[in-house]
Amino acid sequence: MPVRALVVDPSAPAAVRLAEVPDPVPGPGQVLVAVSHASLNYGDLNDARSGRVPVGAVLGSDAAGVVVEAAADGTGPAVGTRVVALTSGAFAERVAIDGGALAEVPEGLDLAEAAALPVAGVAALRSLRAAGLGPDKRVLVTGASGGVGRFAVQLAARAGAHVIASVGSAARGEGLTRLGADEVLVGLDGLGHPVDVVVDSVGGPQLVAAWSLLAPGGSVQSVGWTSGEPAVFPPYATVGPAKSLTSFVIEGDAGADLAVLTRLAAEGALTVELGWQGSWERFTEAAAALRERRVPGKAVLRVTAGERPTSALLAPHSSEMPRI
Ligand SMILES: NC(=O)c1ccc[n+]([C@@H]2O[C@H](COP(=O)([O-])OP(=O)(O)OC[C@H]3O[C@@H](n4cnc5c(N)ncnc54)[C@H](OP(=O)(O)O)[C@@H]3O)[C@@H](O)[C@H]2O)c1
Repeated sequence: MPVRALVVDPSAPAAVRLAEVPDPVPGPGQVLVAVSHASLNYGDLNDARSGRVPVGAVLGSDAAGVVVEAAADGTGPAVGTRVVALTSGAFAERVAIDGGALAEVPEGLDLAEAAALPVAGVAALRSLRAAGLGPDKRVLVTGASGGVGRFAVQLAARAGAHVIASVGSAARGEGLTRLGADEVLVGLDGLGHPVDVVVDSVGGPQLVAAWSLLAPGGSVQSVGWTSGEPAVFPPYATVGPAKSLTSFVIEGDAGADLAVLTRLAAEGALTVELGWQGSWERFTEAAAALRERRVPGKAVLRVTAGERPTSALLAPHSSEMPRI
């Protein structure tokens, strides 16, 4: 039986529509998961238009749900286990997932919260690790009101760092002190002292400004580029005592890091803020809210079983669900 999924379609609003795709067949070491929640990442919006995910392919990276078929080789979680995963093609009712890409969801954490963790949480965790986080470090997080930003603020604070959260407006800074930020700044105004680590999601002029504030030996982790603007370094800005600007991308299996993040969240040591929740049939609305910087934290889509298409809804594409 086919399953419903959000697939890339450049002619649809937000370049995504609901469609039916073949039921996935698990490969070696894969389990079949009935997805109940998926989270929307800024990267998904880029992927839908960049060609990185081909037209007609299922979008998405973050999924949470219940195992409905265990791996044939006996590895991985049993049927009925609640899991969360970082996997390609996550926005579907059922997804075949590698054992290494998922973690069990502990009691005390609901699947909507778990679904918010993979891309944003793993990016925050790994970029901080790569920068060499320590208790006496001054850590600047740009785009701090967003998905990556809110997790980075909390994880850095937990490691004992002095955390400076940079946001686009005072309203977007709300709640960040509660999450562990020692200072909340609009842009980088008023940041007088150098920082040791920058987790940068914004790029552009803010990246240039952050670089100038980096102490010798410090590290900028370039995680994202939501500003969409070029970064123009003034002459000699990169000449001087050694410090680094490092590109960042999530690579390899995320299961082990997801186990860390789900445990922290279940213990209440990591707050998952769901700034937008709704049915995946409202994908276009969720995408607009994310792009327009109206989502504090994460946007989570509820994967509803929904009605099968009726003949009236199918026209003019007889094999497709209505566009959304
Ligand atoms: N490299 C990787 O593996 C990886 C993994 C995860 C994410 N990313 C990237 O990291 C970035 C953030 O992802 P996310 O999921 O955290 O996104 P998000 O939840 O939408 O948050 C984005 C943040 O960027 C800020 N922002 C948006 N547009 C901006 C603009 N025009 N100028 C300045 N700031 C702007 C917003 O800050 P305010 O609302 O405060 O203004 C918002 O808090 C994206 O570029 C994403 O593609 C990369």
